[in-house]
Amino acid sequence: MTAASERVEGPVADEATVIAARPATDGVPARSARPWVELAGAPSPAPFAGLPDRDLDRRELLELVSAVAASPQLWQEHVAYDDQNRHYVSLHRDAHVDVWVLCWTPANDTGWHDHDISSGAVAVVEGCLTEHNLSLAQPSLATDVAAGAAYAFGPDHIHRLTGRDAGSVSIHAYSPPLWRMGQYAVSPSGMLHRTSVSYADELRPLDDMI
Ligand SMILES: [Fe+2]
Repeated sequence: MTAASERVEGPVADEATVIAARPATDGVPARSARPWVELAGAPSPAPFAGLPDRDLDRRELLELVSAVAASPQLWQEHVAYDDQNRHYVSLHRDAHVDVWVLCWTPANDTGWHDHDISSGAVAVVEGCLTEHNLSLAQPSLATDVAAGAAYAFGPDHIHRLTGRDAGSVSIHAYSPPLWRMGQYAVSPSGMLHRTSVSYADELRPLDDMI
């Protein structure tokens, strides 16, 4: 789901998270300031053909999400919205990568989570999402990622995604394919806990930790 390689070279090579960012508008201070990566993928009849027979790096994941984002024939028929049960559909899964289309309303919230050993990339194709980055010493980051932007991250990334705008759609790719994920919650005593969940489980907030 992504784009021309020169477009993503710097941030992807150097940062755990490449984000693009537009300050969040929900009143949460946005401390992320990197310019977002604009999508420039060309429509492709078969973006899953020719994938390497190995895990993909963050640049390759960005290129893949860009290509899929630019190919609505692959995901448009799957778009649907649900405030209670976030709607998402697997578009592709092989030994090295899985690709999903996710649909968002402002009521949809993944809660804090990681992706275990997988790197990932997200391309927003409709509407706007908010990417939250957990910070324990100061307010967590909140960055709006609007249609036309994409970012990638490594397996060290902990985040929370929420729908900012009704009718939002995003394309996600992970390599190696998601299998287990970690969800985070804070106990009444203030201890941070990680719970391992299946990739097949819908991520939801475990608590009101912000
Ligand atoms: Fe995630």
